[in-house]
Amino acid sequence: MNTVIAADIHLSMASTRIIGQDAAIHQIERAIRRVTSGLARRKNKPLASFLFTGPSGVGKTETAKAIAELVYGDIRRIVRFNANEVSGEGSQWRAFGPPPGYMGSDTGGQITQGVKRFGGRCVILIDEIEKGPQEIFDGLMACLDEGYLQDASFDERISTEDCIVVMTSNALVDDECAELTEEELRERVVNSKATDPRTGQKISRFRREFVGRIGNVVHFRSLSRETLTQILADTYLRETAVQIAINLQLLAPDMTPKALGFLVDQVGSGRFGVRGISKVLDEYILDRVLELPEREEINSKCWVWDFDEEEGKLILVPAFTTSHGGFLAMYRQYPQYSKEVVAQKVIQKYDWLFEKTKDEIRRRLALKKAVGGLHRLY
Ligand SMILES: Nc1ncnc2c1ncn2[C@@H]1O[C@H](COP(=O)(O)OP(=O)(O)O)[C@@H](O)[C@H]1O
Ligand SMILES: [Mg+2]
Repeated sequence: MNTVIAADIHLSMASTRIIGQDAAIHQIERAIRRVTSGLARRKNKPLASFLFTGPSGVGKTETAKAIAELVYGDIRRIVRFNANEVSGEGSQWRAFGPPPGYMGSDTGGQITQGVKRFGGRCVILIDEIEKGPQEIFDGLMACLDEGYLQDASFDERISTEDCIVVMTSNALVDDECAELTEEELRERVVNSKATDPRTGQKISRFRREFVGRIGNVVHFRSLSRETLTQILADTYLRETAVQIAINLQLLAPDMTPKALGFLVDQVGSGRFGVRGISKVLDEYILDRVLELPEREEINSKCWVWDFDEEEGKLILVPAFTTSHGGFLAMYRQYPQYSKEVVAQKVIQKYDWLFEKTKDEIRRRLALKKAVGGLHRLY
């Protein structure tokens, strides 16, 4: 059996960054460090198991991806199953395979065969587990308790001793849960009720013995406006700004607090967590940048997004010059910083964006080469 060696696990080192969930991340890092050091490995059990509770769109699934990247070295080493999507008689078949002779029995179960394909070294991610049928819980029970999954199609035992099991649930959404001890949180999970998608009735899905077998129960809190702002700025720089740089040769690495505030308002009440962020960035930045006229003038400078109150939309102002009040506009937004400090901040982001853009172009070139005649990748 391969031992996973990773003495120092920091989820923040993964390429996806989870913001504003420090307590949860700390708890997860400790649990993973315990098992990956080899100190807490138990025979006939998965490497680690987690139940992530909390509202939708606050980083639960993203954390599972970060774990895959850190422990198994690849963000794609995830077998993902959405328990919400399975309903009706025999719905567990999709997960663990239908019995021989039934339709689909030639390919087996999505979870079982997925784990097998990765040689057992992967994260098993079950999303919205509380909405799944009892049979899913029963199948997972063997995994948590004995370290294997049974594929019904091939009558095959698949070892999950090198897997990390992550289940997510929206059953508990109250921020107060973040203040509870782990034992209290488990008790809440046991007492929680979910709506059965088949009947619409309230049901308890988490049996005490099931919850008792999960290694770690971790609550993710809802995101504050401050966190949402950070995620938005981060997503903009990592994704939108890089796309704009590559496709339009335009460098706009930063935003004024006023522009950021406007965009965060558009994301809304936060009821959907951060899911609205990409849509807002597309609508208010990408659409806006496509409206811009003369490119030559634009391409020779570094820009900052600001918000024009009269027009009610975002505008680009130059980051380094005082023309159009660009730099000064920035400066006024950060009264606590000197002009030099503001300039330094912009330059740092500028460098970062420049490097990231070069990386992305290299990646696309490599991809283009790999797939041969595929044109128009960029
Ligand atoms: N705390 C967070 N920090 C950074 N990004 C986040 C955070 N929460 C959510 N996101 C982003 O929002 C999207 C949805 O998050 P996800 O992890 O799928 O939410 P859920 O809690 O419902 O599983 C992802 O693309 C992720 O990048
Ligand atoms: Mg999710």
